Amino acid sequence: VQIFVPCDSAALAVGADAVAESMVREAQARGIVLELRRNGSRGLFWLEPLVEVVTPAGRMAYGPVGVADVPGLFDAGFHQGAAHPLCQGLTEDIAYLKTQERLCFARMGITRPLSLEDYAQHGGWTGLRAALAMAPVAVVQQVLDSGLRGRGGAAFPAGIKWRTVAQAAGAQKYVVCNADEGDSGNFADRMLMEGDPFLLIEGMVIAALAVGASQGYVYIRSEYPHAVATMEQAVRQAEQAGLLGDDILQSGTGFHLEIRKAAGAYICGEETAMLESIEGKRGVVRAKPPLPAHSGLWGCPTLVHNVITLASVPTILARGAQCYRGYGVGRSQGTLPIQLAGNVKRGGLIEKAFGVSLRELVYGWGGGTASGRPVKAIQVGGPLGAYVPEAHWDLPLDYEAYAAVGASVGHGGIVVHDDSANMAQLARYAMAFCAVESCGKCTPCRIGSIRGVEVIDRLLRGDQRQQQEVLLRDLCDTMLHASLCALGGMTPYPVLSALAHYPQDFGLQPAATS
Ligand code: NAI
Ligand code: SF4
Repeated sequence: VQIFVPCDSAALAVGADAVAESMVREAQARGIVLELRRNGSRGLFWLEPLVEVVTPAGRMAYGPVGVADVPGLFDAGFHQGAAHPLCQGLTEDIAYLKTQERLCFARMGITRPLSLEDYAQHGGWTGLRAALAMAPVAVVQQVLDSGLRGRGGAAFPAGIKWRTVAQAAGAQKYVVCNADEGDSGNFADRMLMEGDPFLLIEGMVIAALAVGASQGYVYIRSEYPHAVATMEQAVRQAEQAGLLGDDILQSGTGFHLEIRKAAGAYICGEETAMLESIEGKRGVVRAKPPLPAHSGLWGCPTLVHNVITLASVPTILARGAQCYRGYGVGRSQGTLPIQLAGNVKRGGLIEKAFGVSLRELVYGWGGGTASGRPVKAIQVGGPLGAYVPEAHWDLPLDYEAYAAVGASVGHGGIVVHDDSANMAQLARYAMAFCAVESCGKCTPCRIGSIRGVEVIDRLLRGDQRQQQEVLLRDLCDTMLHASLCALGGMTPYPVLSALAHYPQDFGLQPAATS
């Protein structure tokens, strides 16, 4: 009997290790020969730990499984795929999964994260082999043609960045993966590194071949110990297999990769602060220009990308740019791994082509709030993203459509709040968060965020309410336009959207509509 129990942090956090041990013990006691495999998470978090049993019809899913459920599962014959109240049917038929369009997360939960054999059997290294057969300039063209845009949040066209680094003068070039996933409610980078680490390595090797880099770094959030351990192990295995090192797959091209544990500060996820941190300095934002593509790590041309951007590249090379750009809408091409979190019944990872709506995500996949109360606000794009009111829940998820209503798709994180949320307190939190996480380099952010907390407090106390509102808007305007980086520059998004759509929570009258 072969069973799978995830080793992803989301499953470990709800007792997956204890469930796995209990399964092994119970099988031994019953004389059942059990082969336990640890996979990545399927991203159906409300069902974790999700145990899967291999049956002739496919993998049968049971979840959420607690240690106390294990004897009963064996009594019912779950190891032969038998019915049980926790049985969710065949994993591939679970509607939450079946309705997705998984390109980046295609292997997630199916393979063992650190098995090179599983990776190769499920299409791994196809993109790299295709890239090795092309000239570097053709690889860059594929990325350009695919329409891939930076998935970290800024959505800059990836191919243009690749071309800039490829054409930049310099004997030494770097590829850096930004895995300092600091946004609350975001977990796609972590899941990918823990569940399919060779995909990120493959994407980085392809990027290195294309831009002419010989050294790479993956800068991983220190709060992600499992991701760090998995990536370190994956790099060692890839080196031993000749997929990293002086002579990749005997192609005559070399690329070395190093894992760096991040410094534990949100701002180190900003690309230039991250480069400072990798260089061993305090994570303070650098003024741009120069762009890292021209002068990044130790002053050399550096290709910086988020995990999901780099992990999207092998599929583009394997299936072709046209196939990838067949997904999506407008200028938002391909798929986005969307992370559904907060007060939602079925939180998890949903990879879909751009164009899906918030209503479909939150009510369809998510099943509404976990509390059963009405949804009040949905924050899209992390703690610096706007609160999207109901009037926009049917908008297609598309970078341009969101920008047009003052919101941002960001890294695809969605956090749901029910009607008990106080939007003024959440706006205050955004300012307080900025004050704590500010690197201190520029005044609008360093001082503005502290003043922002004070102004909101006065507003909530009812001290000269109208004047405080004017002051808060003025402060937001300064932060928006005069901050050096996105931390100070985007903190007004949650504040202004809360003010615009939920004025009553600030003790203000709704704006008159004309
Ligand atoms: P940005 O717009 O300044 O730059 C985007 C990227 O494109 C950068 O790598 C930049 O160096 C590059 N770039 C810009 N112009 C270029 C050119 N002409 N040639 C080559 N490369 C060029 O945005 P930034 O400040 O890097 O990122 C802001 C975003 O980060 C926000 O939208 C926010 O959503 C997101 N964010 C994501 C977090 C996460 O956990 N994933 C955390 C915090 C913010
Ligand atoms: Fe530093 Fe804030 Fe200025 Fe960014 S906006 S450079 S985090 S002080």
